[in-house]
Amino acid sequence: MSEPKENVLMEKIVSLCKRRGFVFQSSEIYGGINGFWDYGPLGAELKRNVKELWWSGMTRLRDDVVGLEATIIMAPQIWKASGHVDTFCDPMCDCLLTKKRFRADQIEPQSGVAYFFTGAKDATSGKQSNDAFSVLLPAGKPPESARKTATQFYQQRGLATVELLGERSEKVENSQRYNPENGAQLTEPRPFNLMLQTFVGPIQSDDNVAYLRPETAQAIFAQFKNVLETSRQKLPFGIAQTGKAFRNEVTPRNFTFRSREFEQMELEFFIKPDEAVEAILGSVATVPETGHPGEPQPNWGWQAWHQYWVEERVRFYEGIGLSRETLGFHRQSAEELAHYARACVDILYKFPFSKRNEQGELLGEELEGIAARSDFDLSQHERFSGKTMGVFDEELRTAWSKLNDVKKQSISERYYQARLKYLTKSGVETAKAEKDAKEDAEGLAKGQYIPHVIEPSAGVDRLILALIANAYSEVTTTDDKGKSETRVVMKFHPRVAPIKVGVFPLLKNKPELVAKAKEVFTSLRGHMMAFYDDAGAIGRRYARQDEAGTPFCVTIDFDTLGEKPELLNTVTIRHRDDGKQERLPLTELLGWLQARIR
Ligand code: GAP
Repeated sequence: MSEPKENVLMEKIVSLCKRRGFVFQSSEIYGGINGFWDYGPLGAELKRNVKELWWSGMTRLRDDVVGLEATIIMAPQIWKASGHVDTFCDPMCDCLLTKKRFRADQIEPQSGVAYFFTGAKDATSGKQSNDAFSVLLPAGKPPESARKTATQFYQQRGLATVELLGERSEKVENSQRYNPENGAQLTEPRPFNLMLQTFVGPIQSDDNVAYLRPETAQAIFAQFKNVLETSRQKLPFGIAQTGKAFRNEVTPRNFTFRSREFEQMELEFFIKPDEAVEAILGSVATVPETGHPGEPQPNWGWQAWHQYWVEERVRFYEGIGLSRETLGFHRQSAEELAHYARACVDILYKFPFSKRNEQGELLGEELEGIAARSDFDLSQHERFSGKTMGVFDEELRTAWSKLNDVKKQSISERYYQARLKYLTKSGVETAKAEKDAKEDAEGLAKGQYIPHVIEPSAGVDRLILALIANAYSEVTTTDDKGKSETRVVMKFHPRVAPIKVGVFPLLKNKPELVAKAKEVFTSLRGHMMAFYDDAGAIGRRYARQDEAGTPFCVTIDFDTLGEKPELLNTVTIRHRDDGKQERLPLTELLGWLQARIR
């Protein structure tokens, strides 16, 4: 078996996705639309399996998480409160020559000689442009090339016979100010809001602007109180949601990795503030920064819950075939963290297009971020909506009355300081912030607080791409005549594989084999995604299923019909990954398969 090189590998993956119906370009017949992708028959099954596993693992198999299915368009005030209207921006710049748009922070730094021009004059008409312009050339390239680019720039400004003015040159190191494709100067970076806008109702005015949600999370915060009141949950508990999100990415790239329409799987897990835990239980548990901290405990504060969710999410990825070695981890530094966040760990997957470190090892790209977001989100919605987002905790109220004064004072002070920091950082004027923080600290003593949140936020499409890249393998076989053939085998974990089982009659022209095979197929398809195939030689049928990633294929042969009486009503099962076959009574087939795909 040979492993192809990375870029070639990505090309092969993209081509397989189209050829086998995993992923298609959206609106392909019209030339496509950048940043939008459709899932074909196999991709749709794969995606469904992933979302179903996430949903059941998060909600149905847990006592402490419930689900939500909210609308994509919500009241625009939500995005004001969340900060998206004001700050959800990427720095963007345009090429002064071609107008091509770039994300300023993603431009490869370049070095060379920059040629500056203060302007240009039209040699015939005498018309002058005083627009300054510069061009970066790699070291050693003749200056004539810079002059040619500059001439084009001034021609676009209406000069016919360009005479360049004020030329000078300078060495430049690691600059992100030039178009990597033609060396032309870029505009200054400016913020570009990533939210896609629309209008609600028949009038297209500023009053009717609405946004396609850029994340599913905000609906969970907005509905927090309704869910709490209707679900009989008590803190700590979570609300899970999957669904579409939209971002007008400046440069969509790497196939589906950065798209403009994508799906998220988000959990907001609400916990008591550490001060409440300490008041109730005397202290807050400390856990190591790595490794699973075990079953949740009542004395867990944000740090233990955060670590717990990082590890739970890694277990999820391992459970669908992404081993720890294929993943990377990035713990955000204090400078990277948002002012309200306590910690954030990104789980990365080592994609073929990921950057490499100095040792040549793949570093990985973000699949999911697990953030400890303090009480920021609910506090923001409380301030902007004027509706209380706090909870009343009877246990805290009772415990508080039993604390000694020193402890009360110490916990109150810390809570006051945390609230004051949030309020002042959120722009509340100092006197009001101090007054509100004091009230919040007094509320704590009465058993009231705004819950904190741990947020594991994953992207479905990135995970699908990771699963496809991870599954892709090539097998080369050589026949008796020395002719070799390379085939693709998609080694999906059976839990996520789009098709779980292929069912084949050994021969298509034997009605009794076909009838039996159809009977077996019908008995399985109500329980799992099964695929019936009687076209071509059995080897070709196996190969087709290998390429689709089907983990098991069942063949009905003459022994199934009783040619060897002891094998009556048995079938062969062929394993995708090693080609091994085994024989099984039909009565055991369903249970055998179910045990392996769940
Ligand atoms: N509520 C938090 C939040 O939305 P994020 O890091 O911006 O955090 C979470 O997004 C996840 O959504 C990412 O880890 C990624 O998997 C996915 N995601 C974000 N932008 C994406 C894009 N343009 N295309 C595909 N997936 C994206």
